[in-house]
Amino acid sequence: MTKKDVKMIEENVEYQLIEALQPIRYHVLATQIYHFFNEGIYDKLLESDHSVESLAKALNLDERKLLGFLRYLANEGIVEFIDEKVRLTHKCKQINEFRGWYTLMIGGYGRTYLQIGEKLKEGSGWAERDGRQVGVGSCQMSKFDAIPLARSLMSAIPNECNYLLDVGCGEGLFLIEFCRAFPHLKAWGVEPDKGGYLAATEAVRKAGLEERIILTNTSALGLLESPFKQEPDFLIVSYVLQEVLGQEGEAGVIKFLTGILERFPDIYIIVIEIEDLIENKKIMAHNMSLAFYNPYYLLHYFTNQRLEKQEFWERLFEGCQLEVKAKDFANINVDSTDLTVGYLLHRKQK
Ligand SMILES: C[S@@+](CC[C@H](N)C(=O)[O-])C[C@H]1O[C@@H](n2cnc3c(N)ncnc32)[C@H](O)[C@@H]1O
Repeated sequence: MTKKDVKMIEENVEYQLIEALQPIRYHVLATQIYHFFNEGIYDKLLESDHSVESLAKALNLDERKLLGFLRYLANEGIVEFIDEKVRLTHKCKQINEFRGWYTLMIGGYGRTYLQIGEKLKEGSGWAERDGRQVGVGSCQMSKFDAIPLARSLMSAIPNECNYLLDVGCGEGLFLIEFCRAFPHLKAWGVEPDKGGYLAATEAVRKAGLEERIILTNTSALGLLESPFKQEPDFLIVSYVLQEVLGQEGEAGVIKFLTGILERFPDIYIIVIEIEDLIENKKIMAHNMSLAFYNPYYLLHYFTNQRLEKQEFWERLFEGCQLEVKAKDFANINVDSTDLTVGYLLHRKQK
């Protein structure tokens, strides 16, 4: 194609309109992929191909609406119709590997994004989110980043770990994964969101780990005020200090960490956080930053959560008399931005 041809195409109104509509196409597509997973349609089709009629019957769905939904997804290459039956495409199975991102960003925060206009106004308060889907989605994602990172930090703990405390445990996946990996381990999950707590209760029951995992429906600071007999030897707070920081300020995070140390002076603490570098042009030019971190950063400004930089956390840990025993980042094969950082902390020896 000559430069003249390219210029002619670019000046064509239809070409410009199609370009301008791409964000709408992907907005709708992301939302429909989320529904496809969340309504159990993907899982049903994974068992076997179905006619629309049998799929509608199996899931108690409106057949005509389902037909329109599936035809839409077929045009986007998510399903295909073969001999009157619906089949998952390879592309769809690949996307399913990363289902957690849809649960978090669409199920958890889809509503938040739509409220941003009204919540920009002075004194308008915080946008809503779906706490259950935030906890569930975050846990689904953590298989790729936070759980391997926590495992690697845990391996730097010199003592044997016998009792895990996971504060802000969401759907409880850390508790389940760690109990499966270490058969002697007992664990305790704390989750303030009722939906997240119920999801964790169900996940622990399904995993058959009720004997080894207990769950409490309270917040980080609420936990310190409640009487309990458990003696955890390591604590995980994964993407949770950012929540406490937004809700209770720096004083609240300090109160939580120092309260934990008073109660359990020898405990090891694993903190996982995402560093806020939204203003860093070089980092934000990375495709992973544009695909995930940019929209992720955005929602934090509207939902009473506060992401911070590594220096902030390291200064705060220092002030709590916590020593950084190890520091690591998410697996580079999953995310090469180094924006997801993990710390292993222990009380400073006097
Ligand atoms: C992003 S999710 C992280 C879930 C899980 N820890 C993970 O890494 O996948 C944040 C979790 O913190 C919980 N949370 C919010 N405020 C909290 C607080 N004040 N104390 C403890 N947990 C809190 C939320 O309900 C949510 O389940």
